[in-house]
Amino acid sequence: MKQEILDDSHEINISKIPDFLSDNLMSELKEVISYIESSDDPMFKDNRFDGRKMTVDPQILKKIQFLYQEKAEEVFGIKLKPSFTILAMYSEKGNMYDHYDRDMCKYMINISIDSNCEWGLKINDKIYNLNNNEAIFMSGTYHQHGRVGELNKGQFVHNVFIYYVEEDFSGPLW
Ligand SMILES: [Fe+2]
Repeated sequence: MKQEILDDSHEINISKIPDFLSDNLMSELKEVISYIESSDDPMFKDNRFDGRKMTVDPQILKKIQFLYQEKAEEVFGIKLKPSFTILAMYSEKGNMYDHYDRDMCKYMINISIDSNCEWGLKINDKIYNLNNNEAIFMSGTYHQHGRVGELNKGQFVHNVFIYYVEEDFSGPLW
């Protein structure tokens, strides 16, 4: 796994690792995604955002969070504990304004699973285009982040967010 530092001008570096998840995990994730895509269950609808389906802490993501914790500790250079995870599936009208996350999102791995378009990830005014199975290591609380523009009809982006906090963090984890 080759880590590339994209920005080291903040307290927490922004870095990326291509080809991050194993083939097995990627295919397991894609099975979950296609199930959610075909499901009308309102539990997957995100009422806060148009064009977004999501689920919090599915088993597959808790597994990834556990399996890659050591890697995250190596990249961030600090002992961590898991907080929560999100699988987010964006389609037509999908959007994400610039924002900061809550405390339990301090250490984040943002993994692009699948997409059929480029959808710039804006972090502190720099725009990054992510390849499938590329992981961005960043901070949800230190780095302002959002997406550039809105997805059009027929476009999709599937993303995974894995969050950790410092080992001695005592606030809520969700
Ligand atoms: Fe966020």
